[in-house]
Order: sequence, then C-alpha cells, then structure tokens
Amino acid sequence: MLNFSVQFLLLLTLAVLLSVKLIKWKRKQLNLPPGRRGWPFVGETFGYLKPHPATSVGQFMEQHISRYGKIYRSNLFGEPTIVSADAALNRFVLQNEGKLFECSYPSSIGGILGKWSMLVLVGDMHREMRMISLNFMNNVRLRSRLLPEVERHSLLVLRSWIHGSPFSALEEAKKALKKSLCFLFNMNRQVFVNLIGFSLQFTFNLMAKNIMSMEPYEAKTEKLRLEYISFMKGVISAPLKFPGTPYWKALKSRSNILNVIEQKMQERWQEMREQEGDEEVDDLLGWCLKHSNLSKEQTLDLLLSLLFAGHETSSVALASAIFFLESCPEAVQELREEHSEIERKKLQRAESSLTWEDYKEMEFTQCKNGVTSTTTNNFMPYGGGPRLCAGSELAKLELAVFLHHLVLSYRWELAEPDHPLAFPFIEFPKGLPIKVYPI
Ligand code: HEM
Repeated sequence: MLNFSVQFLLLLTLAVLLSVKLIKWKRKQLNLPPGRRGWPFVGETFGYLKPHPATSVGQFMEQHISRYGKIYRSNLFGEPTIVSADAALNRFVLQNEGKLFECSYPSSIGGILGKWSMLVLVGDMHREMRMISLNFMNNVRLRSRLLPEVERHSLLVLRSWIHGSPFSALEEAKKALKKSLCFLFNMNRQVFVNLIGFSLQFTFNLMAKNIMSMEPYEAKTEKLRLEYISFMKGVISAPLKFPGTPYWKALKSRSNILNVIEQKMQERWQEMREQEGDEEVDDLLGWCLKHSNLSKEQTLDLLLSLLFAGHETSSVALASAIFFLESCPEAVQELREEHSEIERKKLQRAESSLTWEDYKEMEFTQCKNGVTSTTTNNFMPYGGGPRLCAGSELAKLELAVFLHHLVLSYRWELAEPDHPLAFPFIEFPKGLPIKVYPI
C-alpha cells in the first residue's frame, strides 16, 4: 500500500514538474512578458477594477509596473491578458487593429450595448456603422447644424443656473430637474450647482436632439436620460443576471431604452408615409431610415450606443476641465481673455451667435499652443487607428463652446472637496458641487 502511495506521489510530482516545465517552455516559445494569473476564474479582475483617484494609474497598476515593467501578463475578465501601459505599444496595437490585432470587450459590455453596437463590431459591419456615424458628424454638419445646437444647449444649461429651470412653466421639467440635481438655489447671487448632473444633461440633451429630434426637458427625454444613468452603471460590471445586480438593472434599462427608440422609429415611419417626398427630419434616425440598409435591430443598437458613446464621455471631460481649471487661476484668466476678445469681435460684427471662425480662434482653449510633440504623441484620449473616436470633433466643439459661455458668465469654486475617481469610468463621488458667481 505504502509502496503504491509512494509510486503515486512520485508520478504526481513528475507530472506536475513536467507540466510546469512544459508551460515554461511554451511561454519561452511565445515570449510572453512576466506577470501572474491571480485567482482561478476571476484572475486579477477585482484588483484591476478597484476604484482609484483618476489623477494616478492606481495602486494595482503601480505595483504591477514596478514588479513586471510597463507590459505584463495577467488574467482579467476570465481571459489570459497582456496589459500595456506603454504608449508606443498602445499606439502600435490601435493602428494595427483589424490586421495584427482584433478588438474585443468583456462579454458584459456586448450583452448590454448589443451585438450590433459599433464598439463591439469588427470587420465590414464595423466599417459600415462607422461610416454612418462619421457622416452624421461630418465637417459641414458640424459647422451648420451642430455648432448652433451646441451653443443653444450650453446656454440653456448655463442660464438655468441663475433663473432656475429654463422651462419653469413645465411641471414635467421641474420634476425631472428635482430628481437629477442635488441642489440649486440662489442666495445673494451665489448659486450652488451639481456640475455632473448639469454636464450630463447638456451632453445627453444635445445627442438626443441630434439623434432623434427629442427636445430637452420634455418628459420622454427626461425618462430616457434617467434610464441611461442606470444603464451606464452596468456597462462595466460582472455579468451576473439576477435581480438587484448592476448588470441586471442595466439589461432592464437597455430594454426600456430600446422601447423608447423603437417607438420613435414607428412614429417616424408613420410621418414618412404620410408626407411622402416632403422635407425629411434632419437627424440620425431619419437618415438611417431613409438612406441605410440597416435592419431594425441594427438601427436600434446603433442609436442606443451612439447616445451612450456621445454623452457620458464628453460630460466627464467637461466636468474634469472645470474641476482642474478651478485650481489654476492663471489658465482661467487666459481663457477669459481669449473668449472676451472673441465676444468683442462678435459684438462688433453685430452677431448674436458664435461662428465657425470664432470657434477656430479658440486656440488656448483647445491647447493648440505650448504642447510638446512627445506629450502630444503619448496623449491619446480619443484612441487611435481605425477605431479612433468618431465623435472627437463634436466633443472638442462641445467643450470649447461650453467653456466660452462659462468663463464669460461665471466665476466658480468647489463647494465641497471632491475628486475624480476611476471606477474605471471616471466619476466624482459627490457629483462635483460648485458655487458659481455671475459676472
Ligand atoms: C471627450 C469626449 C470623448 C472621449 C474622451 C472619447 C473617447 C473615445 C475612445 C477612446 C474611443 C475608442 C474606443 C475603442 O478603441 O474601441 C471612442 C470611440 C467612439 N466614440 Fe468617442 N469619445 C468622446 C466623445 C464622443 C462623442 C461626443 C461621440 C459622438 C457620438 C463619440 C462617439 C464615438 C464612437 C461612435 C466611437 C466608436 C468608433 C469606432 O469603433 O469606430 N465619442 N471614443
């Protein structure tokens, strides 16, 4: 018996040693970077997703980089993974998308955004959807349609800071505002503002208007906006499909959002049938129904994911800009000088709205000066290669125009300490409460 156990143990040890040797040999062959696998199944996912201040790469990355270098092996979202914090490699990967590399996301993201979402599609179908989005935000549309819309939505939000709801006559608007804003009250002309609530409102309303002609602060638009808040919380979450989990709630929101978009689609078909040949509504929904060969399911996923991609990102970018500017009075001063000059010229021309030429003059605002080429090369906020953000020009326009009216209308300071955290989506835990003073 003892003999058998010893033999068995010896065999087992040999098998373990052999497999370790084989794995090592295979790794050597594959030339994988150093790293570790972490726990069975979950690997190192929880450490990787642990929230950290957005101004740093976080403890997990710091520890791994100091132990293994900028490129290391791990196991994330149930898959063997290579993590890269190396700007040159990241650019190489992005530029070789579809050739040497193929984009893929954790399954939870595909489940929530939908299988026809541009973020998860690859190959020809991705290219087709991308062309539709780029066409929707082309240069001519940016100048003629989007610039006036961006300015209108910026002013709606900024004016509501002093006057309360821009549509205070509408009971629905009041209800929706109460729900979405933590606080807003006028006291000796000093206004307290929950900035995240407002910046999300600004970017969402802008996208909803241009994608489906939904008017800001109307009941349907507000309902859709609130659905997106729970939707966004589940996009990066464990795919646990039972009541109460962020993933489950996000799937429910997805189906509510799709119901609203589908209803809009039915209404539009009806309108198109009734007014044959008449002027078409100039939004993305109208364009897709009239000019694309997309199926109903594909159009629904495209609109849902464009609304998502186009509002969360730019609202956080806007809030972060306002947050960082607050601690840099010199930069605010320079911004104010640039925008006062643009405003002065605009008044001289007796114009009431910003023109494309005004926008092009916002050089300091768009950091067109003073950035070294190495920094520019390593800074890739919009990704790169064939998946470069399709809305980057619109995002820049939104930021510049909103800042134009902000610095000309208000001074601001933090009402309470708050800080951007990476969850990994950037969030301000207190919603970035600021005090604003009209000037
Ligand atoms: C400051 C704001 C924004 C940032 C930082 C940002 C960032 C990004 C990044 C990094 C990607 C690449 C994702 C990947 O590699 O798969 C991306 C893709 C995308 N973004 Fe943005 N984005 C912003 C605003 C917008 C806006 C306003 C829109 C308008 C609809 C938009 C639409 C898209 C679309 C459609 C894609 C997918 C492109 C493709 O797969 O071909 N983004 N964005």
